Amino acid sequence: MSIVTSKEMFKKAYEGGYAIGAFNVNNMEIIQGITEAAIEEKAPLILQVSSGARKYAKHAYLMKLIEAAIIDAEETAGFDLPICVHLDHGDTFELCKSCIDGGFSSVMIDGSHHSFEDNIKLTRQVVEYAHDHGVVVEGELGRLAGIEDAVNVSAADASYTRPDEVEEFVAKTGVDSLAIAIGTSHGAYKFTAAQCTRNEKGILVPPPLRFDILEEVTKRLPGFPIVLHGSSSVPQEFVKMINENGGKMPDAVGIPEEQLREAARSAVCKINIDSDLRLAMTGSIRKYFCEHPDHFDPRQYLKPARANIKEIVKHKLVNVLGCAGKA
Ligand code: G3H
Ligand code: 13P
Ligand code: ZN
Repeated sequence: MSIVTSKEMFKKAYEGGYAIGAFNVNNMEIIQGITEAAIEEKAPLILQVSSGARKYAKHAYLMKLIEAAIIDAEETAGFDLPICVHLDHGDTFELCKSCIDGGFSSVMIDGSHHSFEDNIKLTRQVVEYAHDHGVVVEGELGRLAGIEDAVNVSAADASYTRPDEVEEFVAKTGVDSLAIAIGTSHGAYKFTAAQCTRNEKGILVPPPLRFDILEEVTKRLPGFPIVLHGSSSVPQEFVKMINENGGKMPDAVGIPEEQLREAARSAVCKINIDSDLRLAMTGSIRKYFCEHPDHFDPRQYLKPARANIKEIVKHKLVNVLGCAGKA
């Protein structure tokens, strides 16, 4: 099995009422943790690379590591692991072209910070090049809040997707999927304490996602795959692990998993998760360092980090995305 596009994955996910997990990758341990989980759960997979990840690890390293994961799946598990390799938050035509030329099977062109007309123009340019090369394209309408390397949108500048724009955008650009903003956001601090209520344990409870907007978009684009960014749940067990081992992440809060499960049953075919894996890795390493202050072999602390990434991805595939057994 070689690298595949998400076309077939999305068709089956839409019809089957589940979503494909799109996990961000930056290094070997992250790729191994995610792919081992997908192999064991027989789940289709999207591995996505941000421009920051590409700068950190370099394109060739990430491609070769992903190819190695495919070979490993065949050799050790006798399993054809379908992997779509996707550019996350591409912001220029040149970046998308470079990823397409370099073997990615899917790119996102994130023109959401441009005007509606300029977003259409840029997205159309990427779609023409991508489709000529057998590559699929994700566009975006609406702006998610959050701060990451490539994404820096204040809560005040965030805006929900306007359902009255989606048909024209999809028709004029020819995109294969559309990311929409319905209240998710990037990073580990998705909501301020003021935006939330607190449950009996004092844990922040965020405002619900705008399923009404998702429903309206779905009515206007029947059968069309929708994408949710900023969909980490920020597991409190890892926040606790970080805070108890020298870290400081007060009031980190994510999207409740039940709401993501509900989204996965609908037109949402791709759910993006990065922060939860970062938390699993950081928590594991912090804990290891505190428990073994005399150890200094990176394999010793990267091993539990990789194992915890694998566990959390398995949990997402089975209990949140519903895509286990669908490969
Ligand atoms: O949405 C952004 C992803 O979490 C990637 O983050 O740009 O820091 O690699 P990054
Ligand atoms: P999280 O920060 O919620 O994991 O979102 C990741 C994402 O949307 C990548 O594009
Ligand atoms: Zn994103």
